[in-house]
Amino acid sequence: FGPVRVGLLGIGTVGGGTFEVLRRNQDEIRRRAGRSILITKVADLNVARAQEIVGPGVQVVADAREVVNDPDIDVVIELIGGYGIAREMVLAAIENGKHVVTANKALLAVHGSEIFLAASRKGVMVAFEAAVAGGIPIIKALREGLTANRIEWIAGIINGTTNFILSEMRDKGLPFDQVLKEAQRLGYAEADPTFDIEGIDAAHKITILSAIAFGVPVQFDRAHVEGITALQGEDIRYAEQLGYRIKLLGITRLRADAAGRPFGIELRVHPTLIPARRLIASVEGAMNAVWVKGDAVGHTMYYGKGAGAEPTASAVVADLVDVSRMLTSDPENRVPHLAFQAEAMSDLPI
Ligand code: HSE
Repeated sequence: FGPVRVGLLGIGTVGGGTFEVLRRNQDEIRRRAGRSILITKVADLNVARAQEIVGPGVQVVADAREVVNDPDIDVVIELIGGYGIAREMVLAAIENGKHVVTANKALLAVHGSEIFLAASRKGVMVAFEAAVAGGIPIIKALREGLTANRIEWIAGIINGTTNFILSEMRDKGLPFDQVLKEAQRLGYAEADPTFDIEGIDAAHKITILSAIAFGVPVQFDRAHVEGITALQGEDIRYAEQLGYRIKLLGITRLRADAAGRPFGIELRVHPTLIPARRLIASVEGAMNAVWVKGDAVGHTMYYGKGAGAEPTASAVVADLVDVSRMLTSDPENRVPHLAFQAEAMSDLPI
């Protein structure tokens, strides 16, 4: 097989990390994917800076359309972020029969149904491991390792910025604003940090996890969302004295009656008092952790970096390997590894 040719839209922190991981681990990745994976074209508004990052061997263009319309590209990685041009380019790439890898949680939480339906009709993959909890392979854990289970609930620290803020306020007694500035300086925060501190980013992510766990459409507008802006240093100190930690959790739960028949789904983000002895209470700084309860497996927990260049690139490249394996498999027996079947969803209310 020849190389899988990849086009990249938007090269910032994660795009740079993706190039680095693909370069450094190219031998392992080629063996595991069954063929080499090459980023052949990059679109970024700042062409000169992008060319500096990728070196002279890769073509850089300013217009993302030149990538999604390029017949030589098999897979498009979308790292533009936001809803507007990112949605347009993802839909155009799908329409052109290209597979898509994206880290864009906001886009999937709000427009996921439209995107997954388009992908399902075209028989292409939309892979998004990097969209939730960065380097933690939680999408693959839910869809593969835990696929035999009825998922009962998921509770996660899935926003590094707010966990960092809460940890620093508790440990160092620093004020909220000062710690937020530090989180921005360290590159954890979203372009618009209100998405972090108001719980919106965590809600995007738990919406995606809920859809996978319970087979419901992505419905961000149904989520109850409460951030950390109303919390004071005093709240954190009192919680500590009573033996608790305050964590911003994303929670989704299957609601069932006494006979075990599901009748609805909870979907919420809010600050939560957690007994300090719980494992998840000890997740500090910008780290993420996702706790999943399945009926067969019991409790499982996944811990790691939820943001940053290489942790997020680790997930992006894993998706590229998934796409490559699928492309290398026998076309007669190929089951496109779709996000989930948009047409075969549960109608449980949230
Ligand atoms: N702003 C996000 C966070 C980045 O703080 O977790 C990763 O999605």
